[in-house]
Amino acid sequence: MDLELKGKVALVTGGATGIGAGISEYLAAEGVNVAVNYIVDEPQVLAFTNRLQDQYGVETLPVYGDVSKSADNDEMVARTLKRFAKIDILVNNAGIWPTEDMIEMPDAHWQRVIDINLNGAYMLSKRVVRSMIERKIGGVVINMSSKSGIQCSTGGHGHYTTAKAGLNMLTRSLAREISHLGIRVVGIAPGMVRTPINEDKWKQDGLMEEYLERIPVGRFAEPIEIGYLVAFLASSKACNITGTTLDSTGGMLI
Ligand code: NAI
Repeated sequence: MDLELKGKVALVTGGATGIGAGISEYLAAEGVNVAVNYIVDEPQVLAFTNRLQDQYGVETLPVYGDVSKSADNDEMVARTLKRFAKIDILVNNAGIWPTEDMIEMPDAHWQRVIDINLNGAYMLSKRVVRSMIERKIGGVVINMSSKSGIQCSTGGHGHYTTAKAGLNMLTRSLAREISHLGIRVVGIAPGMVRTPINEDKWKQDGLMEEYLERIPVGRFAEPIEIGYLVAFLASSKACNITGTTLDSTGGMLI
């Protein structure tokens, strides 16, 4: 299936590690020019974006910015538009997954998880959607939710599950507001994907086996598989899909 994404422009937050890197990589493989947002490890990000350019013949832009800060979101969008003149696809992928009980944690810890996982997606979506409307180009916003936004099965993640559940409703509310303008909003809920966010868990003795028992397909997903889904959802082949969060958990939500 030709997804007809060649020449499109994507901005992917947290786009140089884990799932974000899988998304940036597969979009580049489909001919999309990618602005890769990051907050840490600039040398790794530069090596990654240079490799994508060389390997796939697309343009890339490493773009620094903390998604939880308004000014950084302004700057990120301005830099991407300056370089590429438009943004067709926004992937709100950046997130953190700390483990701490709600009744124990300081208010600031709760606030930080909500700010990065939920408020960041709102702030950046608003800015990018305005740029799409100004240019009358239509577009797609993809929010990286989680199985945890639907089901809170593990302890110590109350802030995270609350943020992701909020993100699912942001997806629906924004889709309701802007889909008639040709801008679709879709969420993805992965289950267990092998990335830096959870390696402290699956590297612990015995825990990998415990996780695998809960995954009907019997395996962790690889980041590039989320990239395949993003590419499909970003394409016009998915023109009838908006305002929903797709289960990509390998059956964990059955
Ligand atoms: P990761 O740790 O590799 O990716 C998170 C990215 O977000 C990193 O690049 C990090 O630098 C970036 N980030 C963190 N705070 C930021 C901030 N304030 N501003 C900008 N960037 C920031 O982990 P992974 O797994 O790739 O996570 C990506 C997304 O997928 C997250 O939203 C996570 O909640 C979600 N997810 C991951 C699952 C998994 O099994 N790995 C399962 C379900 C959801």
